[in-house]
Amino acid sequence: MELGSRPVTLVSRCSAVTLIALAASAAQGGAQELTAAAGLAPSEGQRVVFITGSTGGLGREVARKLAAAGDHIVVHGRNLERGKELVAEIESEGRGSARFYVADLGSFREVRALAQAIRRDYPRLDVLVNNAGIWLEGPRTVSQDGYELHFQVNYLSGFLLTRELLPLLRQSTPARIVNVSSIAQRPVDFDNIMLEEGYSDGRAYAQSKLAQVMFTFDLAAELEGTGVTTNALHPATMMDTDMVLERGARARSSVADGVAAVLHQVEGNDLGSGRYFNQTTPARANDQAYDPEARARLRALAERLTGVG
Ligand SMILES: NC(=O)c1ccc[n+]([C@@H]2O[C@H](COP(=O)([O-])OP(=O)(O)OC[C@H]3O[C@@H](n4cnc5c(N)ncnc54)[C@H](OP(=O)(O)O)[C@@H]3O)[C@@H](O)[C@H]2O)c1
Repeated sequence: MELGSRPVTLVSRCSAVTLIALAASAAQGGAQELTAAAGLAPSEGQRVVFITGSTGGLGREVARKLAAAGDHIVVHGRNLERGKELVAEIESEGRGSARFYVADLGSFREVRALAQAIRRDYPRLDVLVNNAGIWLEGPRTVSQDGYELHFQVNYLSGFLLTRELLPLLRQSTPARIVNVSSIAQRPVDFDNIMLEEGYSDGRAYAQSKLAQVMFTFDLAAELEGTGVTTNALHPATMMDTDMVLERGARARSSVADGVAAVLHQVEGNDLGSGRYFNQTTPARANDQAYDPEARARLRALAERLTGVG
């Protein structure tokens, strides 16, 4: 997909700051303050795109494409080396710019610190891509907050991060929220949502991915008329990323396919809001996503678990 060219003022290298502080505890047991691990501030007029999980896989390739077209990328992940490498690569190419923030989406405290850092460091946020995700082999694992890990990393933390960043997005209109879901989506079982019974990684992944779509539909209704739109998508099936390859599974598509689908959501016109796309084609999600009672129930649960009112 060709990206439209945008006017970009290059960031002066003299003003470059490379900050190497990570999360520092303000006081024992107190709030954490998160500082960018590397990078430059955006220049005047540069579009700001925040891509969670952009230290690897799909998020990284989307970040590289958008930065090459002149955007400022908020790079995020847990891997310090990979994040710093991506920022250095973007800066060396000289068109876009980037900053890198380290935060584990398995911790609500770190998600809050991340959102707080973005609100502090950016006067605007044009696009939020909730891309970070896991599909982990092995036994059931719980997050630092005690919730089934796929449900927290893939859904609850994106829910919390989005809600924490909504004021910034609302003051940056037209703005977009892109939720990277999957066609591997299955209904949420409200009686066993943390999968204490009958756990499988496939089940955990699939319910978290439908939860993202349900969140998207709900949020779009809430944001109607505000200038902030949101859609969910399946990027591509079994791409050649770590998520697939580290399980020893055979890739069935390339990360480039997924990049095209995400860029379509970031760049495309007339996409509407509150829709689910299979790559670039509008599609029907699992039936549960169209059940307002199920969505309300999920939303109430997410608000309670994340503490968002
Ligand atoms: N691969 C596929 O075929 C496929 C198909 C459909 C949908 N998807 C969706 O596409 C998205 C990207 O998948 P991918 O294939 O690119 O996966 P990937 O290669 O495993 O990359 C995942 C990214 O998420 C970050 N991440 C993982 N756990 C995190 C955590 N706890 N906290 C913060 N960041 C975390 C990773 O960075 P760090 O390691 O630095 O934390 C990495 O940047 C996911 O939402 C996935 O569900 C993928």
